[in-house]
Amino acid sequence: MGSPKHKSPKYFVNFLLTAAAQESKWRGVRVGEHAVSIMVVFIHPRIFDNEFDLILLFMATPINAISTKCREKSFQSFDAKVVNNQPSNIPSEYVWSDEDKPSTDIKELQVPILDISSFLSGQDDHVATSQAFRLVSEAAKLHGFFLVTNHGVQEGILARAYKCMGTFFDLPASEKQKAKRKWGEISGYADSFYSELPWKETLTFRFSAEEKLRSGTETVKDYVSKTMGDGNEEFGTVFHEYSEAMNTLSLNIIEFLGMSLGIERRYMREFYRDNDSILRLNYYPPCKQPNHTLGTGPHTDPTSLTILYQDHVGGLQVFVENQWRSIAPKPQSFVVNIGDTFMALTNGIYRSCLHRAVVNKERERKSLAFFLCPQMDKVVKPPKELLEVSGQRLYPNFTWSMFLEFTQKHYRSDKNTLQKFSDWLRSKEVIDNKLAGQS
Ligand code: OGA
Ligand code: NI
Repeated sequence: MGSPKHKSPKYFVNFLLTAAAQESKWRGVRVGEHAVSIMVVFIHPRIFDNEFDLILLFMATPINAISTKCREKSFQSFDAKVVNNQPSNIPSEYVWSDEDKPSTDIKELQVPILDISSFLSGQDDHVATSQAFRLVSEAAKLHGFFLVTNHGVQEGILARAYKCMGTFFDLPASEKQKAKRKWGEISGYADSFYSELPWKETLTFRFSAEEKLRSGTETVKDYVSKTMGDGNEEFGTVFHEYSEAMNTLSLNIIEFLGMSLGIERRYMREFYRDNDSILRLNYYPPCKQPNHTLGTGPHTDPTSLTILYQDHVGGLQVFVENQWRSIAPKPQSFVVNIGDTFMALTNGIYRSCLHRAVVNKERERKSLAFFLCPQMDKVVKPPKELLEVSGQRLYPNFTWSMFLEFTQKHYRSDKNTLQKFSDWLRSKEVIDNKLAGQS
């Protein structure tokens, strides 16, 4: 992006708007804030006279207003019944840039299948266990995706959650809006950090194992009864029950992953016992132009471990060795993937990988994602066994609450996020130390 070569106010305004447009591409909705900082960095030191100082001041206000408007827009619900009403083309907000548009010729990615119950019950079968460790470990080092079967989640719990999800997304928009997600909050209906809007509706719940252990509070149930009121209690009961089942399963998987790295058996289970996790329901309606949009844009999960139940339709894709590859639905199994926080906890040995969801013309698709996250204030720092193997620390200490805030307020979560967050933490540490030295 160039800098203004002369100082006509008209040029200045044009430059600013171009900067804002560029920024909206890079950073999603935070158009205004970045345009203002760009303006300060690029223009202010060069021109530095009163006329421009004044314009700078005046521009800051409306530009920040644009930013707030965009934020509000990004939290507006995507209502399939409304957007699908148009005769042929999808609205332009949902059209993604050419580089992100999905291609049709995608090969399937073969991922290992972990039979978790056999692992839990058959600890004595050393051959089978070490084979499972080896296969999952290889995948976790390469892309972090694998399947879990024999997971112990009762069929009935899954069926109830899936059915309830359909009931929720079928509700009239006004009903769904009661649970509208607010800026900076975890739970709620619909969300987006992208300027290119995703072709989906979502409902997200915070699930706190810690509150359950400490005071018996059932966070999902409480949220539903507070926001959605009478008549919707079933959602609370069903999604709470589903989250509890996911909590149990995720602790089993995380124990397996820890052991596959040679870490003492209880370590990872203990680390995540009081987790502060997230359950997200994704509803992807059919789309008239599926090749122009995405259900979920390319991202990594900033969380620790994702357990995804996808229905039979398919649409999940993973970016491996410079290619998008699909993960085909497999009945009675969950797709598991590693998130940025677990990548940091393993000092980068196990990887979180870019993935996305595509949509299609004919069929709606639903998925339920449970994101295991540590308790908010727990320090994420690799266990000593891993440091002995891998030596140097790749990421500084951080807490999930710091990383969550960073991903929600500053950057969308992509393959560079964890690195940017680490760099930011390190620079912050330098500044904090300097300030501490001065006082
Ligand atoms: C997610 C996600 C993929 C899918 O919710 O983070 O990657 O297939 N979902 O719904
Ligand atoms: Ni994801």
